[in-house]
Amino acid sequence: METSQTGSNIKLKPIHPFAARMAPEIAFEALEGLPKESIILDPMTGSGTVLRTISELGYNGIGFDIDPLSVLMAKAWTIPINEKFFLQKTDQILIKANRLTETSIHLPWIDDDNNTKDFIRFWFGPKQITDLRKLSCIVNQYKYGYASLYKIALSRLIITKTRGASLAADVSHSRPHRVRETNDFDVFKEYEKSCRKISRILNDNSREGTIKVKKGDARKLRLKSSSVDCIITSPPYLNALDYMRGHKLSLVWLGHSIGELSSIRSTSVGSEKAPEASSNISIAKEITKNITGITELPPKKINMVYRYALDIHNILKESARVLKPECKATFVVGNSCLQGIYIENTSIVKEAAGRFGLKLVKSEEREIPENKRYLPPPNAGEQSVLSKRMRTEAVMTFVKQ
Ligand SMILES: C[S@@+](CC[C@H](N)C(=O)[O-])C[C@H]1O[C@@H](n2cnc3c(N)ncnc32)[C@H](O)[C@@H]1O
Repeated sequence: METSQTGSNIKLKPIHPFAARMAPEIAFEALEGLPKESIILDPMTGSGTVLRTISELGYNGIGFDIDPLSVLMAKAWTIPINEKFFLQKTDQILIKANRLTETSIHLPWIDDDNNTKDFIRFWFGPKQITDLRKLSCIVNQYKYGYASLYKIALSRLIITKTRGASLAADVSHSRPHRVRETNDFDVFKEYEKSCRKISRILNDNSREGTIKVKKGDARKLRLKSSSVDCIITSPPYLNALDYMRGHKLSLVWLGHSIGELSSIRSTSVGSEKAPEASSNISIAKEITKNITGITELPPKKINMVYRYALDIHNILKESARVLKPECKATFVVGNSCLQGIYIENTSIVKEAAGRFGLKLVKSEEREIPENKRYLPPPNAGEQSVLSKRMRTEAVMTFVKQ
């Protein structure tokens, strides 16, 4: 793996596409001065960049994400692997899957659910459905050990930019659209290649730190108060990216029904939803008071901003609770643009943090590399100042008082 530990040019080789990956050097820099026995938390782990970086540097980490595919990605990227043993098991999986007959397979979250069945018929061709059913049946029997790796190897066949096991393109950018009627993609052959590729990436580097990744909500962390030494994370930006839209195509083969995935999607931070009826809107108004122009937005969009503000408020509340006193939390935050109104997410994060004793000690702007820009661009003709602002993100460092 190409990994250099000099900070500014740290590079990690990913094992799975992810549309909103953070720059590893941010994690590297946030760790400065921390003793190796420290416990680092990423409450919204995404593909696992923070966890992977810290494990390479010998730290222990805990990660949570609400998206089951992110949990798998981060787990798979951080577990130690014995290449020989892993590939032997891969061969066994392929042999077992090949031997299955269609009548011996029952995938309850698909076969007993018409929505999920229809979704699969729309996005996949008949030959790939047959083969994916076989692999899914075997791979989902694994619960421990390399389970996440075998599932991620399957997911890599589907979350692709161009040709993959589905009939769609742009799945890896979370903007899937059906581009073909038929597909000659060889699922079994590509699955074997996928496992080999993963094992090559993971095998040529030793990781010292212990990493735990679980499915969980950053607004309600299953952690004791004052139990972590450092937080490094990047929350979703308001209206930036609907991760679930692309991930669904893979997760339906990994034990999740469309109904379940839709409900996860609706609870994700940054989704285009209004606040819960029971929410305290006055908090949202307070936190967004410095953002000019909100009231010019249509009511639906105002509610979206309020919902986002309340989610950020709850994330900061939980972060402050689990962080030890005098310890640091680093948040990477980008700004958004809603119908021409510039929404300064950094201001929302700062206001929310201040309410829970998290003092902003540093905020640095960094340019988002061209190929990492996934935010909706401002409409043509909009001010160049706005376009410029949308090309940067802020690395905000807080200290718990
Ligand atoms: C910008 S990404 C994190 C990127 C990550 N640092 C990386 O490098 O891959 C934000 C993540 O927040 C997750 N997320 C959204 N709402 C969440 C919630 N309520 N609790 C935990 N994670 C959440 C999304 O699923 C997504 O994976």
